[in-house]
Amino acid sequence: MCGIVGYVGSDQALPVLLSGMRMLEYRGYDSAGVAIVEDGEIDIVRKAGQIGNLEAALEGNEPSGTLGIGHTRWATHGGPTDGNAHPHRDCTGRVAIVHNGIIENHDVLRAELVAKGHTFESETDTEVAAHLIEQIISDKGSTLLEAVTEAVNILEGAFALVCVRADEPDVIVTARQEPPIIVGAADGVGLVGSDVPALLGHTRDVIPLDNRQIAEVRAGSVRLYDFEGNELEVQTVHIDWDLEAAEKGGYEDFMLKEIHEQPDAVRQTMLGRIDSNGKVSLDEVHWTNGELKDIDKIVIVACGTSYNAGMAAKHAIEHWTRIPVELDLASEFRYRDPVLDNRGLVIGITQSGETADTLAAVRFAREMGARVIAVTNVVGSSITRDADAVIFTHAGPEIGVAATKTFLGQLVALNVLALYLAQERGSMTVDKIRETMAAMEALPSQIEDLLEIKEDVKAAAKRYSEARDIIFIGRGVGMAMALEGALKLKEISYIHAEGYAAGELKHGPIALLQEGVPVVALCTGAKLYDKMLANVEEVRARGASAVIVAPRGDERARDLADDIFEVPATKPLLTPILDAIPLQLFAYYIAKEKGLSPDKPRNLAKSVTVE
Ligand code: F6R
Repeated sequence: MCGIVGYVGSDQALPVLLSGMRMLEYRGYDSAGVAIVEDGEIDIVRKAGQIGNLEAALEGNEPSGTLGIGHTRWATHGGPTDGNAHPHRDCTGRVAIVHNGIIENHDVLRAELVAKGHTFESETDTEVAAHLIEQIISDKGSTLLEAVTEAVNILEGAFALVCVRADEPDVIVTARQEPPIIVGAADGVGLVGSDVPALLGHTRDVIPLDNRQIAEVRAGSVRLYDFEGNELEVQTVHIDWDLEAAEKGGYEDFMLKEIHEQPDAVRQTMLGRIDSNGKVSLDEVHWTNGELKDIDKIVIVACGTSYNAGMAAKHAIEHWTRIPVELDLASEFRYRDPVLDNRGLVIGITQSGETADTLAAVRFAREMGARVIAVTNVVGSSITRDADAVIFTHAGPEIGVAATKTFLGQLVALNVLALYLAQERGSMTVDKIRETMAAMEALPSQIEDLLEIKEDVKAAAKRYSEARDIIFIGRGVGMAMALEGALKLKEISYIHAEGYAAGELKHGPIALLQEGVPVVALCTGAKLYDKMLANVEEVRARGASAVIVAPRGDERARDLADDIFEVPATKPLLTPILDAIPLQLFAYYIAKEKGLSPDKPRNLAKSVTVE
């Protein structure tokens, strides 16, 4: 989830680019770079690390051209180094591009371009696009617009590309396939950004590109085309946020913004996970089939929300692979004298990749001879160095302290891993795996649809914001979500909340129930649905209020509930991915009702680097 900017006009491009990049830094801060067209040449300056490093490198060396592109990187392919920083150029240095996304066929294209004599400077997937455009221009004498139009039909995967060419010093060409691109034009100015904030200093009338659209941006004008080269009508959207709010994309808080980014987070994490033969693809896990069959036990270690993702994953992994799974709080694992050897596989889950306990747990597991897979959202984070294999969740930078979109990314990545193990070990039929992957591919649009319930959740949150205690109950994967619902609520609203296995209620916690205590019941899992409703009856019999997360259209749940959050149908083991949405919104709106800042809860930090 990189940040992209472009400017063409009569002012110097560099200050405009840098201020736009600052606004988009939340999208990634592994490196930053600019390419400025000046006197028939392209000047590129790029640096690993935050924008400050780039500014230091530019000191005394500022290009003064009036057309340029800039990029803040959230690394995917290739580490966060100077060499992998964008912009990337072709062999002649006369084409420069910045990119957000993943070019899935970069290997094949790179090999073809190398065979034609191209030399590559970086390890990125992005660089192939620059060489491909160069090749098209040299073969056919194309303009930049023509070459980009041809190139986007060859590239596969997800890409927002922004390209400039030394020989066309008055035009920026940008193309979108999945990741967002916004363009705009104002008095003598043309603009490109991967999010609205980058444009707002110049115009509030913006043109968000649709998928498979290309824009040719000049000072004062934008022309729009489809990938087939047909010109399209330009449609402008007026933005009425102020600049400060715009950094949050018009949302009041990063947490709310990140909740809304979850369809994209799931989409990105799923990207490229099904190969051309319809098989689950997980190149990161490079062990042989025999080695995978040898695994006799899996141990999951994680903290907080990542632990809750692990609890949901335990059910899926055991059901699909028949490998026994242990789940450990990372802070407990190495102190309990665990039984583990080289047939064990340890999965360390951490969105930041920096949680001290999780790092210590996976290091300990490796010392015991176990293989380690890390599931993390941060390229270049410490856990990536301590693991034998890394699966990235491509959720983009998460700024709100409460984990939301990274949690969904973890659930998706862990399910993909479970299906991959099932495929390689032959514990699940090909048809069943395909059916489950298809259900996962449907999730982003189901989440988009589910986000519509936010007004209902907000109204319910108003009713319960004065509660002293709120209890969450669930069974199976629903129990993991009960823990997660309670954690989200307590960390941002400071209301005492507990998550319990619903069957445990009568072994103690039921004593807490009385008139007015809200109980949130996770009732979407088909297998234990009747048992969950029986638990809700017990709760109501003690005068407590029942807030039910239920399958959409379920009359029995509607009859029992004081409040109901209805969730679309999916496979039972995938329900956590949808149940998370109302639970996150519930916590968010209760915090807002209490006048608290959900983004910066007291005493918490986004990454916990001490034990
Ligand atoms: C809760 C939350 C924390 C983290 C925990 C682990 O919303 O964000 O509970 O989940 O601190 O962090 P990571 O995943 O970075 O290891």
